[in-house]
Amino acid sequence: MTQNLRIICKQRPQGIPKPEDFDLINAPELTLGQAQLRCKIRYISLDPYLRGKLSGRHLSGPIHPGDPMISETVGEITESQDPTFQPGQYIRAFTPWQHEVVINAADAILIDPAIDPLSLQIGALGMPGLTAYAGMIRLAHPGPGKTLLVSAASGPVGSSVGQIGKIQGCHVVGIAGSEEKCNWLKSSLGFDSTINYKTQDLREALARQCPNGIDIYFDNVGGDLLTAAMEHLALNAEVVLCGLMEQYNKDQPSPGPSPGLVIKARATVRGLVVYDHEDLREQFLAQAKLWLKNGQIQFKEDVSQGLESAPQAFARLMAGQNFGKAIVKL
Ligand SMILES: NC(=O)c1ccc[n+]([C@@H]2O[C@H](COP(=O)([O-])OP(=O)(O)OC[C@H]3O[C@@H](n4cnc5c(N)ncnc54)[C@H](OP(=O)(O)O)[C@@H]3O)[C@@H](O)[C@H]2O)c1
Repeated sequence: MTQNLRIICKQRPQGIPKPEDFDLINAPELTLGQAQLRCKIRYISLDPYLRGKLSGRHLSGPIHPGDPMISETVGEITESQDPTFQPGQYIRAFTPWQHEVVINAADAILIDPAIDPLSLQIGALGMPGLTAYAGMIRLAHPGPGKTLLVSAASGPVGSSVGQIGKIQGCHVVGIAGSEEKCNWLKSSLGFDSTINYKTQDLREALARQCPNGIDIYFDNVGGDLLTAAMEHLALNAEVVLCGLMEQYNKDQPSPGPSPGLVIKARATVRGLVVYDHEDLREQFLAQAKLWLKNGQIQFKEDVSQGLESAPQAFARLMAGQNFGKAIVKL
């Protein structure tokens, strides 16, 4: 009988993971119980989030040294103890990285055997594809004439984002890290233009390729790419924070507000300019007067006396020494 080998995490990677951080061992012997399936693993999905799990920082939980590496896989059922699954069918499930597994039937999802290759169901038609679709169709509002910028553009998420953008009529600019990737994006996928962030001046290229600003930035990287894209946002732009390739290999998060916190909280971040909301003034006044009258809101003023006190009062305000609305009474 051939060995059933398994890959485990041997030690927490420092920086970019190395083969030495993993080990190949014999998997424990498998026994097939009620409502379980025996499967031969045909494809294993490798995804950036696994790096976060290896650091113990991913929202789906950690992978510790000694643990098997687990991710989404495509398996072929060889034996079934569940009447809804038959040998020869293909499933996707989260399983250890090993040749053969036994899993609970309840954790397996049948996949379409007609899709060739089957691996598409853990790629462009799987989680990464869904990520792109959800971001573009539910969170952003792509449309004709809009400029869409996407980073890590040649990966399964980024390439799907760009192509959905083209289908929706956007002008699509992709950021990628090699000429080969950039050429593929333009010649095969129909991206309008690309930026090789490793060889080009990013900000100059963004100004040239997005002359009216970026309407949608789909961020897979964070760091300086995010900063540069933010510097070129068009009015009412939409930013979808999806991934943090720039951070995953670091021991400590980069300083400053982390997009990771926004992602984890599924938060919506909106820019506010009060002048855009003048139409609310009457409604606001009526409501706030009532709240004030009923004692539901209170106010505090920090009142300085006389015109000549204004510079000092302003200095106090900017030094954080005011307490309440800074006012000068003449
Ligand atoms: N929010 C979610 O639910 C969700 C779901 C799925 C994926 N994601 C995120 O989406 C992003 C893309 O995922 P994917 O599966 O499509 O991966 P991917 O693009 O195939 O692989 C990562 C790519 O990121 C690029 N990259 C940019 N800066 C990098 C850096 N500092 N270090 C290493 N690589 C860098 C590399 O391409 P270049 O040559 O172009 O640099 C690399 O090929 C990831 O950030 C992932 O975590 C998020």
